[in-house]
Amino acid sequence: MTFLTSNRPTAEWQASDAAHHIHPFTDHSALAKRGVRVITRGDGVYLWDSDGNRIMDGMAGLWCVQVGYGRKELAEASYRAMQELPYYNTFFQSTTPAAVTLSEKLAEITPAPFKHTFFANSGSEANDTIAKMVRYYWNLQGKPEKKTIISRDYAYHGVTMAAASLSGLQPMHPQFDLPLPGFEHADAPYWFAEGGDMDPEEFGLKAARSLEDKIQALGADKVAAFIGEPVQGAGGVIVPPDSYWPEIQRICRKYDILLIADEVICGFGRTGNWWGSETFGIEPDFMTLAKGLSSGYLPISAVMVGKRVGDAMTAADEEFVHGFTYSGHPVAAAVALENIRILQEEGIIDRGRDEIGPYMQSRLRTLADHPLVGEVRGVGLVAAIELVEDKAARKPYDPSRGAGVICRDHSIANGLIMRAVRDAMVLSPPLVITKEQVDEMVGIVHKALDLTAKDLASGN
Ligand SMILES: Cc1ncc(COP(=O)(O)O)c(C=O)c1O
Repeated sequence: MTFLTSNRPTAEWQASDAAHHIHPFTDHSALAKRGVRVITRGDGVYLWDSDGNRIMDGMAGLWCVQVGYGRKELAEASYRAMQELPYYNTFFQSTTPAAVTLSEKLAEITPAPFKHTFFANSGSEANDTIAKMVRYYWNLQGKPEKKTIISRDYAYHGVTMAAASLSGLQPMHPQFDLPLPGFEHADAPYWFAEGGDMDPEEFGLKAARSLEDKIQALGADKVAAFIGEPVQGAGGVIVPPDSYWPEIQRICRKYDILLIADEVICGFGRTGNWWGSETFGIEPDFMTLAKGLSSGYLPISAVMVGKRVGDAMTAADEEFVHGFTYSGHPVAAAVALENIRILQEEGIIDRGRDEIGPYMQSRLRTLADHPLVGEVRGVGLVAAIELVEDKAARKPYDPSRGAGVICRDHSIANGLIMRAVRDAMVLSPPLVITKEQVDEMVGIVHKALDLTAKDLASGN
C-alpha cells in the first residue's frame, strides 16, 4: 500500500515538524535535538515508522485503539457516512440518524440508570461538560452554594481549564495558574508509593476517608461532586485496593454528593468488563466516555448522564446553554457504532476478561522477581511495572536518575512502545492482542529491564 504523505525522508519530516508543529506534553527544545519519531502506518498491534521499523504498540496509541489498527470496517463506515451526510449538527431541534442510534446504543450497553448521552469530541470536553452539568444540577435543585468538585492527587481528567483543574498531576497547574477556584483534591489510593507500613486494604480506607475529611473541612453544603477514574491511568495505573470504592460510594451517598466515574481509559473493556465501574462495583451519576468509544479512529466522546441529573435537565423548562459544533458528529458517531459492533460481535471484551487479560497479567507478574521491579500491578489489559532502587523498602530511584525514561527508551529501541509515568512502566495494548504477542511484549520488557539495570548500575 502506498501513502501519499509518507514518501519524504525521515530527516525532512523531522525538520519540518520542528519548524512548524507545537506538540502536546512535549519539551520542544529536547525534541528538536533528538528528532521526532514519525509513525506512518499501523496494522493490528503494530506500527511502522518512517524508516520502516516495526514497533509493537504496547499503549494502543494513548490507551484508545481497542480493536487495533487497520480495521477496514471502520474506514468503510466513515466513507459511507461521509457520502450520505458529512456533517450536520444537533443544535436547535435537529438530530441525525447516527447521533440518535449511538445514543440509543450507549443507553443499551452502559449500566441501567444511564438513559441519556451528551456528545463532545474529547475526554477533556466531556469532563468540562460534566463540571457545568454539576453546577447546573445543583442550581436547579435550589442549592447554588453546592459548587466544589473534589478530585484526587495523580488524577488525569484532561487539559481544558476545568479538566486540568480536576487533574491532580501537579506539573499540569503552575504554567496556567490552575486549579481554578472550586476544585479540590483528596488523596489517591496509591498504596505502593504512599501506603508505608499499612496493609493495602487499610490504606484503601484511609485514602477514601481523605475525601470525607475534605468534605467536612469544606462543608457538605458546599461540595457538589467527586470525580475519579476507576483505575487512575495517566497517574501511573494506580489500581485501588478493594476497600476503596465501596467507601467512596458510601461517603458520596452520606453527604449527597454526585459521583462521576471518568471511564475515558477504563471504559470499553480496558479493565476486563465494559466499564471500570462494573469491575469496581461503582454506581456513578455520570460516566465520561471517549478513547475506546471509536477506538481512537475519529474524535468523539460522550457524557453518560444518570437518572437524577438526566431527569432534572430534561424536565427543566429552559434551554441547556452548552454544546459543541461537532457534538454528535454523524461520521464520528457512525464509526463509534461500527466500533461497538466489532467489540460486541467479535466478543473482544469477553475475551479480554476471560482469556487475554488474565494471560497478560500473569505473564507480566513473572517480571516481579526482577531486581529492578518493586511491583507489577494491573487489571484486565492495563498494567504498570514499578521500578525501584530497593525492592524490600519500596524505595524509588532519585528522579534525577531517570530510570523510567531509560527503560522506556530501551523498550522502544527493541520494538515495543511502553510509557514511563515517573518510574512506573505502563502497558495498555490493543484488546485484540494475541497470546503470542503478549509473550513477545513481555520478552521485550524483560530485555529493557535488564538493559536499564545495567545502565543504572554503571551510573548512566
Ligand atoms: C481518564 C482520562 N480522562 C480524560 C482524558 C482526556 O481526554 P482527551 O485527551 O481526549 O481530552 C484522558 C486522556 O488521557 C484520560 O485518561
